[in-house]
Amino acid sequence: RQVSIIGVPFNGGQPQKGVEKGPLRLVDSGLAEQLQELGWEVGHESNENIINELQPSSDPDVMGLKQPKFVSAVTQNVAHQIHERAKQGKFVLTLGGDHSVALATVSGVFGVYPDACLIWVDAHADINTPEATESGNIHGCPLSFLMGLSTDHPDFQWVKPILKANRLVYIGLRDLDAFEKKTIKSLGIQAFTMHHVDKYGIGKVVDMALDHVNPNRELPIHLSFDVDALDPSVAPSTGTPVRGGLTFREGHYICEAIAETGLLVAADIMEVNPALEDEVAVAQTIQVGCSLARCCLGETLL
Ligand code: ARG
Ligand code: MN
Ligand code: MN
Ligand code: MN
Repeated sequence: RQVSIIGVPFNGGQPQKGVEKGPLRLVDSGLAEQLQELGWEVGHESNENIINELQPSSDPDVMGLKQPKFVSAVTQNVAHQIHERAKQGKFVLTLGGDHSVALATVSGVFGVYPDACLIWVDAHADINTPEATESGNIHGCPLSFLMGLSTDHPDFQWVKPILKANRLVYIGLRDLDAFEKKTIKSLGIQAFTMHHVDKYGIGKVVDMALDHVNPNRELPIHLSFDVDALDPSVAPSTGTPVRGGLTFREGHYICEAIAETGLLVAADIMEVNPALEDEVAVAQTIQVGCSLARCCLGETLL
């Protein structure tokens, strides 16, 4: 089987520099070779030049969102690229970059697999609307566009509302805005917070998550993994760390168990920021990003 690694060196969905260096650091540390050793034929597109070319000279806030033109141009472009790779039957492994890039991954993947389900592993719900966002950072908003909760923003008319509430499940949540809590409840989105991980254990949580979005274990799966889902002691180099997160094994278990279904068609490893914390912390975060990706592509302990 073939895997297409899509690097998205993009930071425009949030204010901190450095997250654009995530993809190349993951690849430089040997990710492509590691996937080859697992038996995959590996292609890699780094997108280093394209993103700079897409930066507009002026990009004022629109409806409370920061850098809307830049985020829109990059994600629309990458969505098309991902769509093409998925259509060719390739597993799409996207390396972020901030989580606004999920506008691209989910649009691209669901364009090819309209009946797919989305497993969102994150400390945050990333479902703010332009009206609701307190920060204006678009990495906190992608799911509201993908679900059709934000339809009137002029820069994001290209985003189609392809994600239904019953095809989305969260794991790892622990830092939600008031609007996000209200929205998750009112739409009936299945959410396994850290409270549920504590209560049931990660094995049961992943089973319940799959039972909800994929009861007959027949639908394609897209996994979007924000490394801030992990505890900051496990993945320190990320822009919005929140204590009380997933352990190293819990994070890996999620990827292993989902890969084991044989239904995973795309995975995102997002929000690795090699400019944050010291070099030891950066190396640790890069290693974790690579090992999560390997688990998504079938690496097992035995
Ligand atoms: N909810 C906050 C916001 O809207 C934090 C979002 C953090 N998102 C992320 N992808 N790390 O700004
Ligand atoms: Mn978030
Ligand atoms: Mn997050
Ligand atoms: Mn996120």
